[in-house]
Amino acid sequence: MARISASVYTSHVPAIGAALDLGKSEEPYWQPLFRGYEPAKAWLAANKPDVVFLVYNDHATAFSLEIIPTFAIGCAAEYQPADEGWGPRPVPMVKGHPELAAHIAQSVIQDDFDLTIVNAMPVDHGLTVPLSLMCGQPKAWPCPVIPFAVNVVQYPVPSGRRCFQLGQAIRKAVESYDAPLNVQIWGTGGMSHQLQGPRAGLINRDWDNKFLDRLIEDPAGLAQVPHIEYVREAGSEGIELVMWLIARGAMNPGKPRVAHRFYHVPASNTAVGNLILENA
Ligand code: DHB
Ligand code: FE
Repeated sequence: MARISASVYTSHVPAIGAALDLGKSEEPYWQPLFRGYEPAKAWLAANKPDVVFLVYNDHATAFSLEIIPTFAIGCAAEYQPADEGWGPRPVPMVKGHPELAAHIAQSVIQDDFDLTIVNAMPVDHGLTVPLSLMCGQPKAWPCPVIPFAVNVVQYPVPSGRRCFQLGQAIRKAVESYDAPLNVQIWGTGGMSHQLQGPRAGLINRDWDNKFLDRLIEDPAGLAQVPHIEYVREAGSEGIELVMWLIARGAMNPGKPRVAHRFYHVPASNTAVGNLILENA
């Protein structure tokens, strides 16, 4: 039986990827951020999974306004890093796990979550920046990745409650897969940020840190927070944080072990959070 051993949460700011790719990670602006991720990188090196189930959002890269899947699961064998306007990032190809992905799709859809099946898509900074933050600059990513894309770009977005329940269905799916795989689930995006309009540049440290506290201690309660509170308190793009509830919902019930917690402002226009929870 496969199992979910841990969950990782991290922001996915594109400028972080550019800082790494352009060799700027030691510059004074970036150094505190990358130093803050060192314990997370060491943790991942010591706790290498067989597969990462990576929850992220596509930023109008693979999907346009023509087709907007609420939840899309990548069942392909591989995914190219996307060209988001400056050429594809110089990072490895992402290898998928079609067999586990198809199993999860079967189980979760039969559990009444209507997923879109994706057999080909480029992956943007939402997926590649978390891999860079957690793995550095390897020649190949350490394991296969199942991309799971959530619409948080175009209204209506899924509720935190739905995301949390979906996480529970994903745990059930993984645990019914007949192979002894160690799976990690990663939730990405956030934390507080707003990239446009009169409130551009909004950061809310207090709300972000309470979100982290509640994600650890009271995820079911946190899942009841309505989308409008994310937008009001964490900015229009702060709504990306609902994706963290998918990863949290996939953890065992009961208290997880906090392996690492880090919060930093700013990276570009964004507050950055990183949390690692292990199943007890
Ligand atoms: C930016 C883009 C993102 O998708 C995000 O999550 C945070 C910041 C940006 O363009 O700065
Ligand atoms: Fe984003």
